[in-house]
Amino acid sequence: MNDFDYLSEGQVYLDSACQSLRPRPVIEAINAYYTEYNSCGERVKYKWGIVTDEKVEATREKVLKFLKLSGRKYTVSFTLNTTYGINLILSQIKANQFKKVMTSEIEHNSPFLATMAFSKKTGLPREVMKRDIDGSINSSAYDFSDAIVVINCASNFDGRKLLNIKDIVKKVHKEGGIIIIDAAQAMAHSVDILRGIEVDAICFSAHKLYAPSLGVIVWRDDLMTKLEEGFIGGGMVDDVKETSYLLSAENKEHRYTRFESGLQAWGEIVGLGAALDWLEKLPKVAWNNLKNNAEELYTFLSASEKVCLVNREVNPTISFYVDGVDSHLLGNALSRENIMARTGYFCAHYYLDHVSKYPPLIRFSLGLHNRPEDIEKVKKIMEKIIY
Ligand SMILES: Cc1ncc(COP(=O)(O)O)c(C=O)c1O
Repeated sequence: MNDFDYLSEGQVYLDSACQSLRPRPVIEAINAYYTEYNSCGERVKYKWGIVTDEKVEATREKVLKFLKLSGRKYTVSFTLNTTYGINLILSQIKANQFKKVMTSEIEHNSPFLATMAFSKKTGLPREVMKRDIDGSINSSAYDFSDAIVVINCASNFDGRKLLNIKDIVKKVHKEGGIIIIDAAQAMAHSVDILRGIEVDAICFSAHKLYAPSLGVIVWRDDLMTKLEEGFIGGGMVDDVKETSYLLSAENKEHRYTRFESGLQAWGEIVGLGAALDWLEKLPKVAWNNLKNNAEELYTFLSASEKVCLVNREVNPTISFYVDGVDSHLLGNALSRENIMARTGYFCAHYYLDHVSKYPPLIRFSLGLHNRPEDIEKVKKIMEKIIY
């Protein structure tokens, strides 16, 4: 695709699950911010600041539109990344309103460790739920009464999804719990699973969504009643006296400031807006290309008896190991051929290493930038290694 024309011939980037490549329009939007109206948002009254304010506000609206959520109920706050967002919410939750914290076995370390730390700090018990092989959770096996549930809706090693998300959210709410979704992986290629689902908060990383490095928290306004103040400073108050202050977040229009302390990454926020515009305008052929590439690679890998796949089905994110071949050495060999793939446990140590007992793995995570030639090249090199 022309929007990734900076890739040299033969360079095959297969690490989109970590950071997607940024298309030209996104890079140009960030450049425009730095070269045409570099200014602080939400404080300055001169012309450049007004442009920044308009674009930042537009990005908040685009995020909600992308998720099909209403601005009447939801607020968009910017932060550093998914990890920071989850920790930020948990650090401010009034633990005495809850009985336990729950997560699942296939989580990235980001929610897995954050819930562990939360449990240690608050003394609330922590429960690790099982996920079915298709990614769903047997809702009748768990009691969500007054629970804080923090789980992903798409995995970072094989893309398996929380297929029964609707059912889980309904049950959590019925039993008095809240649910925070780690959507780091779902946003780029599986957002349909999440669209319109009224969870309590969604955390994601713009850098996995063809946008610059940035975190986003999309949260239901009534979450405010379950939070206590913490991590506050510049950009968050309307008035300050010697020993008291008035939080801007008390005003519905400025509710996003609840999680935005200090100056924000304005250029990156503008870049996220450009990425969402780019995704919206993307022709169907680009999505078909991604689907075909994933199918081609998955079919190729499945055909070899020496390849042990973690995936049960095709997905742009595919993890595996090759029997008798050290994945790290394989990763190095691929790197020498200009193929960039990840090796190890991809921050999902608990499930991949300790539950499933896999050796270190290799992960090919495709993106919209990949060309059919990339897949042909990977197949050719892998054939030499496997056979
Ligand atoms: C499912 C999932 N959750 C959380 C994260 C953490 O994202 P970040 O490092 O951007 O905070 C990742 C990163 O790969 C992920 O895949």
